[in-house]
Amino acid sequence: MSLLLKHRILEKSPTLLLICSLLVVSIGGIVEIAPLFWLENTIEKVEGVRPYSPLELTGRDIYVREGCYVCHSQMIRPMRDEIERYGHYSLAAESMYDHPFQWGSKRTGPDLARVGGRYSNRWHVDHMQDPQSVVPESIMPKYAFLLLKRIDADHIRDLLATHRLVGVPYTDAQLEYAVADFYDQANPDANINGLLARYPGASVGNFDGQGKLTEMDALIAYLQVLGTMVDFSTFTPDDSR
Ligand code: HEC
Repeated sequence: MSLLLKHRILEKSPTLLLICSLLVVSIGGIVEIAPLFWLENTIEKVEGVRPYSPLELTGRDIYVREGCYVCHSQMIRPMRDEIERYGHYSLAAESMYDHPFQWGSKRTGPDLARVGGRYSNRWHVDHMQDPQSVVPESIMPKYAFLLLKRIDADHIRDLLATHRLVGVPYTDAQLEYAVADFYDQANPDANINGLLARYPGASVGNFDGQGKLTEMDALIAYLQVLGTMVDFSTFTPDDSR
C-alpha cells in the first residue's frame, strides 16, 4: 500500500485523524515546553533592569486602563527596519517586571518600547492633551482629562506589595519608602537621593507642569522610563545559550 493510500485511511476517519493530530501536536508541545522547566532561567539577566518606581507603576496602570496597548506595541523585533526606526530590539529582560506585559499586537501608532527620553515632558503633555496640535495627521484620541485627575498614594504600598507577591523583587526599603518616593518623583523641590538610589535612572520633575499631582504626571513618568533601563552602549548579548 502506498503512503498516500495509508493516509487515506486517516483522512476518512475523523476520530482517527483527531487522535493522531492530538498525538503529533502534544509531542511538538512537549519538546518545546518541557525544557523550560529544567533550565536555570529562561530570561537572561540584564544589568540596569529594575522594578518600576511607585509613580511609574501608577502610570503603567493608567496606560493599561486607557488601553494604550490597543494602538501601541512595546516590542521591537530583531529586524533591520524596526531597529533603524525604534532602536535596539527588545530584550526579554526588559519586560520581566511587567505584569501583565505590554508587548501588544497592533501598531496603529508607533512602538513605544524606547520612547523614554525621546520627547520632553512638555511635548508629552501637549501631545496627550491634543495629539493633532503637535502631529496634525495624528488619529490618536485626546487624553486631556488626565490633567484633571488627581492621584494620591493611598494604595501605592499595597500595589508594590502585590507586585512583589507575583515575583517582582521589591525590597523592604522600597515598600517602606513607597509613599515618599511616589510624591518625590514629581516634586522638583524634593531630596531625591534616596529615590534615585532605589530606582536608578528614574526621571524626576514636575511632569505635567501643574501645581497638583495628576494621572498625567504618572503616565509621563512611565513613558519616560520606557526602554531607558538598559545601557545599550555597553550591552553585549549572552550568546552562550
Ligand atoms: C486609536 C489609537 C491610539 C490610541 C488608543 C493611543 N494612541 Fe498614541 N499614537 C497613535 C498614533 C496614530 C500615533 C502617531 C501620531 C502621533 O504622534 O500622534 C501615536 C503616537 C503616540 C506617541 C508618540 C510616539 C512617537 O514615537 O512619536 C506617544 C508617546 C503615544 N502615542 C502615547 C500614547 C498613550 C500613553 C496612549 C494611552 C493613554 C495612547 N498613545 C493611545 C494612536 C493611538
